[in-house]
Amino acid sequence: MILNNEEITFVGFGNMGSAIVGGILKENIFTKINIIESDTSKFKLEEKRLNFIEKINSEINSSKFIFLCVKPQSFDDLSKIIKSFLSEDQILISIMAGIKISNIQNHTEHEKVVRVMPNTPAQVSRGISVWKSSDNISKNDKITVEKILNSFGKCIEVESENIIDISTALSGSGPGFIYKFLESMISAGEKSGLDKEMSRILAIETLIGSSELLRITNESPNKLREAVTSPGGTTEAGLNFMSNNDFEEIIFGTIKAAIDKSIELSKES
Ligand SMILES: NC(=O)c1ccc[n+]([C@@H]2O[C@H](COP(=O)([O-])OP(=O)(O)OC[C@H]3O[C@@H](n4cnc5c(N)ncnc54)[C@H](OP(=O)(O)O)[C@@H]3O)[C@@H](O)[C@H]2O)c1
Repeated sequence: MILNNEEITFVGFGNMGSAIVGGILKENIFTKINIIESDTSKFKLEEKRLNFIEKINSEINSSKFIFLCVKPQSFDDLSKIIKSFLSEDQILISIMAGIKISNIQNHTEHEKVVRVMPNTPAQVSRGISVWKSSDNISKNDKITVEKILNSFGKCIEVESENIIDISTALSGSGPGFIYKFLESMISAGEKSGLDKEMSRILAIETLIGSSELLRITNESPNKLREAVTSPGGTTEAGLNFMSNNDFEEIIFGTIKAAIDKSIELSKES
């Protein structure tokens, strides 16, 4: 489904930029995608809709939407270059963690900005993005933003950037916490006598299957946990150990540390 016979531009084609471009290509949303990337070793994908460019130039003028997918620490330099190429009706879509809409507006001297917090499962079209736009974006343009974000997973629009700071911890950094949990499950399986591959398959499939069951039944995690816990049984023994060792506190502390960092980065930027 081609939304508009238009171009879109990406600045930064790393982990996240390339994942988002993958979604747009798959859903066939734009006919031409400009990719500005300083690391030319990333210009590998053979795809006729992609136009690789080494440095920002006037080719970005024909893109209504310009994704900023560089690291937050690259933004200062980038803003100095990009601002002279922007026209009033263009929309900057930033995925940079911890950089507020007002900050992007000030640095680029550009009013129309959307801030998005995606996550890495976007690479397999299973991302979840939380987003907010500045006040001056039209309803139609917001619909296009949603279509773009839905091309690599799901998305939720929010009213406040504080929610983006919390989402940065829960869903943006979340895959890191889930992988740590999985590493621990796999390692526990190995320490208990399973070979690594067997332990890996059991842990991953259990995570995917449990999440899918939760999603499809729309039950609370609490209810599904109770359903697998018989009095005096094995699950109960493991859960008691978790409770006695402050599992909930560890998870809350983990999320809180990430939220605090996100707020700190927002203030610094
Ligand atoms: N990874 C995640 O889990 C995640 C989740 C949510 C949001 N984010 C956000 O997504 C953004 C990108 O993260 P990432 O992991 O994709 O980073 P990345 O892999 O480092 O990709 C960024 C790319 O942009 C290039 N670049 C930097 N400045 C440029 C410029 N002025 N013009 C053209 N290209 C430029 C970099 O090249 P050089 O290496 O040569 O500088 C690099 O190849 C970050 O702001 C991050 O906060 C990431």
